[in-house]
Amino acid sequence: MSLKKAATLAFAIGALLNAPAFAQKSDTEKGIDRYRELIADGNPAELFDMEGEELWKKKAGPKNASLEKCDLGLGPGVVKGAHVQLPRYFADAGKVQDLELRIAHCMRTLQGIDVKDNAYNKADHKKIIALATYIATASKGMAVAVPQGHPEEKRMYEVGKRAFFYRAGPYDFSCATCHATDNVRIRLQGLPNITQAKPAGEAFTSWPAYRVGNGQLWPMQKRLNDCYRQQRFPEPVYGSEVTVALSVYMGVNGNGVNSLAVPIKR
Ligand code: HEC
Repeated sequence: MSLKKAATLAFAIGALLNAPAFAQKSDTEKGIDRYRELIADGNPAELFDMEGEELWKKKAGPKNASLEKCDLGLGPGVVKGAHVQLPRYFADAGKVQDLELRIAHCMRTLQGIDVKDNAYNKADHKKIIALATYIATASKGMAVAVPQGHPEEKRMYEVGKRAFFYRAGPYDFSCATCHATDNVRIRLQGLPNITQAKPAGEAFTSWPAYRVGNGQLWPMQKRLNDCYRQQRFPEPVYGSEVTVALSVYMGVNGNGVNSLAVPIKR
């Protein structure tokens, strides 16, 4: 090999090694994309979506009312666009609520149902999951716009940010241990960098999601609970403030990104 050729080759290899990892998808990533395309054709989340729409319109509870007057933030009954602007502050509740808590609030106030929202997939929570799927689906493709106008919304962002970077537990992990670096994965699962807009917005709007692995529909709070488990922390009480705060943190970081909800996941 001539000296010139060797130099060119060395330069080319150097360029390859220095190329950003996102410039070209690895075979694994391509494989995962293909798998997603294949399964997206028949997303069982549609069944939850349909069930949720029925539940939204059906009269129920001691007050025999539907949820059609529920204010998800954009006015009574407005479903489209609501998901991408949650969590937000609600004056009638006096606090910031995420989608799941807001649905529970409407079931309580409009229908008179004594919702226990602290148990995933049990009793009334099954309905909340279907309703969340219906409401999130209606905002698919819309840009995330989680508000920061109210002081409580700002406070929740700060709480969420602290929770995100808070290290503890047997491995001294925080969310940031797994979610603050680009292009990291555990086995086949990509770990989104939640401190950056695009991956944060995509992670935030990827839930609710239908999980093929266990055949379950997981709303965001269940997703976060499971990440706390991966972090070797005690799981938070369902619906607790920290889960809402983390959603505010992720949502605001991801503002402007188009919603993917409700996707199918492995
Ligand atoms: C030990 C590593 C680890 C820690 C710590 C961790 N996660 Fe995760 N997280 C994962 C893995 C792995 C996945 C992908 C899981 C899957 O696909 O089933 C994931 C997925 C997610 C997703 C969904 C991303 C998407 O695009 O679908 C969100 C949101 C998330 N984590 C948030 C958090 C938050 C918030 C914390 C802190 C409370 C946290 N994670 C802590 C490993 C971790």
